[in-house]
Amino acid sequence: MNDFTIRRAASPDVERIVELGLLLQEHVEESNPFVWRITEEGKKLIKKKVEADLANSNVLVLIAEADGEVIGYVQGEVTSRSDHVPGTVGQVSRMYVVKQFRRRGVGRRLIKELCKFFNSNKAEDLTVRYVIGNKEAEGFWRKLGFEPIITTSRTSATELDHKLRSW
Ligand SMILES: CC(C)(COP(=O)(O)OP(=O)(O)OC[C@H]1O[C@@H](n2cnc3c(N)ncnc32)[C@H](O)[C@@H]1OP(=O)(O)O)[C@@H](O)C(=O)NCCC(=O)NCCS
Repeated sequence: MNDFTIRRAASPDVERIVELGLLLQEHVEESNPFVWRITEEGKKLIKKKVEADLANSNVLVLIAEADGEVIGYVQGEVTSRSDHVPGTVGQVSRMYVVKQFRRRGVGRRLIKELCKFFNSNKAEDLTVRYVIGNKEAEGFWRKLGFEPIITTSRTSATELDHKLRSW
C-alpha cells in the first residue's frame, strides 16, 4: 500500500496520539492477562507525557496518514551514556497501526523513517519491548531481525509466599 504518508508529529496531533496510545495499552493488556493495568489516573497523565515527548529533542514521533486520517504512529528515543557500550542506543518506545490498515507495510515504513533519526544520531543498537503474547509485535519485530535478550518474569507476593512456605 503506497497511499499513505509519513510525517513528523506536531502539537495538533496530540489528541490522536493519546487515542492511539490508549488503543496500544488495550492491545497490550489483552495480549497478556498478567501485564500491569493502566488506571483512570494513568490515562489522564498520557496527554502531558505526549506533549513532553514532542518537545524532547531525543525523541521522535512519526505519524502515518491516509486521506487526512492518522492511521498509525511510532515513537523512538535516543540515549547516550559513557558507563556502558554501545554508548548510543535507540529505543522504539511506542508503535501502533489501526487494525484495518495492518499488514499493508505501514509499520515497516514507520520504522524505515525512524531509522533515519536513529542513524543521524549514531545509535548503534536498537531495542524494543513487547509483552509475551503480543503476536503482532512478535511477528513484526522478528521479521525485522530483533531477537529477545531479556525476560521479565513475574509472580504475586502471595504466590511467592505460598511457594516459600511449602518448600
Ligand atoms: C505491530 C504492528 C505495528 C505492525 O504494523 P503493520 O503495519 O501491520 O506491519 P507491516 O504491514 O509493515 O508488516 C511487516 C511484516 O511484519 C510481519 N508481521 C506483521 N504483523 C504480523 C502478525 N500479526 N503476525 C505475524 N507477522 C506479522 C510480517 O512479516 C509483515 O510482512 P508481510 O505482511 O509481508 O508478511 C501492528 O500489528 C500493531 O499496531 N499492533 C498492535 C500494537 C503493537 O503490538 N505494537 C507494537 C508494540 S512494540
